[in-house]
Amino acid sequence: MLMTRISRRTLAEQHIALTRTFMKDLESGKNEENFSFDREHPDVLDNRPLIVGKVHTKCQIAQVIQKCTSQVQSIFEERYSLKHNNSPKVIIDGDTTANLMCLADHIEYIIFEVLKNSMKYTIASVLEKNGGLYRNLEDLKFNPIHVTISQTKTTLSIRISDRGGGISPEVYKQLWNYCSEHKLKYLLNFNKIKQMEAKVADNISLSLGFGLPMSKVYAKYWGGDIKVYSTPEFGVDAYITLPRLGNVVENPAMEDYTL
Ligand SMILES: Nc1ncnc2c1ncn2[C@@H]1O[C@H](COP(=O)(O)OP(=O)(O)O)[C@@H](O)[C@H]1O
Ligand SMILES: [Mg+2]
Repeated sequence: MLMTRISRRTLAEQHIALTRTFMKDLESGKNEENFSFDREHPDVLDNRPLIVGKVHTKCQIAQVIQKCTSQVQSIFEERYSLKHNNSPKVIIDGDTTANLMCLADHIEYIIFEVLKNSMKYTIASVLEKNGGLYRNLEDLKFNPIHVTISQTKTTLSIRISDRGGGISPEVYKQLWNYCSEHKLKYLLNFNKIKQMEAKVADNISLSLGFGLPMSKVYAKYWGGDIKVYSTPEFGVDAYITLPRLGNVVENPAMEDYTL
């Protein structure tokens, strides 16, 4: 049911976005032939727009990670009254030039949710070791979160690793469920939500207890997946995989696709 809903929403949003562009081009007298590269507008390259409706044809994954990092850092800096840049660092490595044709809103949602967890538990584990005090956070040293990007001809992978203490076996068993005993406490947060959107929205700092299951639905919608491995008392490694083009059924036909 969720997949059908995402599907309908994606098609409707794409249709609206394309219609808006079409109407704007019509009004300004622009057509396919007279596109020109404009350095002021980097979403246009090689005489072709990089964003077609809602689809980004060359979405720079490192940039998306950077954007989510800034959002997540500012949430936790505000929550714990940390000075700017005093929250855990996020180190992006691997193939930092990798790009993907995708709906950036969905990829952003997935990366944001996983990074938010990593940041939350990296801070929480240090606080716990220091007696749970919220004072003098400035003196605390946080382990960095590592985000590694890699790609093959057919798949793009992102690994997000933290040292936030891992997930307890009780929670891990229920990780992909929408409702569990552990998640009941988040139900009240639903009252604070004005609107649920298929993107990182205003209510970004709220925990609803289904960040990971929803991220999995979005990843699967595009033929990808997300897997989470926990090393108890140490940390978590989350692996996001996304097909470069099409879903898993279509991918074998892309053997000749060069990066
Ligand atoms: N990186 C992590 N480190 C420690 N615990 C985690 C991590 N990621 C997820 N968890 C655990 O899994 C639970 C479910 O995560 P999630 O689906 O994102 O929901 P939420 O963050 O809203 O609780 C969290 O409440 C937390 O207990
Ligand atoms: Mg979460």
